Amino acid sequence: MPDIAAIEATLRGVLDPELGSDIVDLGMVEGIDVDGSTVHIRIALTIAACPMRDQIENDVVRKVTNMQGVDHVVVDVVAMTQSQRSEVMTKARRHARENAEPTMVNPLTRVIAVSSGKGGVGKSSLSVNLSAAISDLGHSVGLLDADIWGFSVPRMLGALDERLVAGDDRKITPVIAQGIHLVSTGLIVDNEDTALMWRGLMLSKALEQFLRDVAWPRDLDYLLLDMPPGTGDIQMALSRLLPQAEMLVVTTPQKAAQKVAARVADMARRSFMPVVGVIENMSGFTAEDGRHYALFGEGGGRELADDLAVPLIGQIPLDPFVVEGGDEGAPIVRAHPEAPAAQAIVRAAVELTTLIPPVEDETCTSRIALLAEQLEATMPARS
Ligand SMILES: Nc1ncnc2c1ncn2[C@@H]1O[C@H](COP(=O)(O)OP(=O)(O)O)[C@@H](O)[C@H]1O
Ligand SMILES: [Mg+2]
Repeated sequence: MPDIAAIEATLRGVLDPELGSDIVDLGMVEGIDVDGSTVHIRIALTIAACPMRDQIENDVVRKVTNMQGVDHVVVDVVAMTQSQRSEVMTKARRHARENAEPTMVNPLTRVIAVSSGKGGVGKSSLSVNLSAAISDLGHSVGLLDADIWGFSVPRMLGALDERLVAGDDRKITPVIAQGIHLVSTGLIVDNEDTALMWRGLMLSKALEQFLRDVAWPRDLDYLLLDMPPGTGDIQMALSRLLPQAEMLVVTTPQKAAQKVAARVADMARRSFMPVVGVIENMSGFTAEDGRHYALFGEGGGRELADDLAVPLIGQIPLDPFVVEGGDEGAPIVRAHPEAPAAQAIVRAAVELTTLIPPVEDETCTSRIALLAEQLEATMPARS
């Protein structure tokens, strides 16, 4: 049975986008009841009728349903009382004042960590192509190459000659490569071989720096992270630094790959990072004569998704254009949009942005309440 503390820890990954803090910290979680595999959660919002409501509710349902032992999540939304509301406002204001931002990433930005247990399954290729596809859907996208010494994204986006520079405020500005805000150690070192020098560097420290010292645009809808292979430190660091981060697991259809990927998902859950879904890559090859070859086996993605009780977001076939595009800095979704692999990636991008839609930066509850409060404070008391 899921325990209350773990549910609360998971709910800390749900941010009130307007107040910029998590709903537990803000005191919006009024009650958690566990009844077998059903979890009842009572959430108090500043104002119940608010476009933000759906989003917070969906995030709560999605993240808690994702927990081990949870089948159903029932969310009960109530409106705060006036005194609760002013308490939340005070907290939010104090929070904004005190918290020197742990990272430069806007809490409104959706963060997706593209992960797998091992290398060579296509994390980087998919990070790049999904970024391009999501950007083509009209969203603003950042891509952090978190594979600190095994970086491959700059080449894949044709940005090997670009360099990161720091502004007057000593913050690093991402390079814009093909419309994507990009940061990678590959944009610091002289060439791909010099990267070996970085081997001594602690991965989690490097990640922290990329999140703290990079001036990620405020209006970024999505930040994708191309994660290094394996589990460990860096996942932990990520969930600590960006509580809104969610994991997208990449696997091949092979049983062995699926086992390794399951380990990474398990690791994510232990650090309370929800898994948004699974993408199966290298799902067979269709020859020119139309014959289909299941080169790396079949069914691994579906099985993993079912095991994790998350959606299978896509199945991407093998396509030489993926390799070519990676080498030449021409992502297949843009260079060969008609290719089945490109179309499968675009469909996955649509699915992903439907599952985690961009946060609507709408002013409703809190800002209105805040304004009203400020107005009240400046107005002479009515007698
Ligand atoms: N769908 C695909 N079809 C053909 N080749 C692919 C596909 N996905 C990845 N590759 C190739 O497989 C290799 C490993 O992919 P990469 O994205 O670097 O994996 P990872 O980042 O997980 O190590 C690269 O050469 C890449 O071009
Ligand atoms: Mg890679």
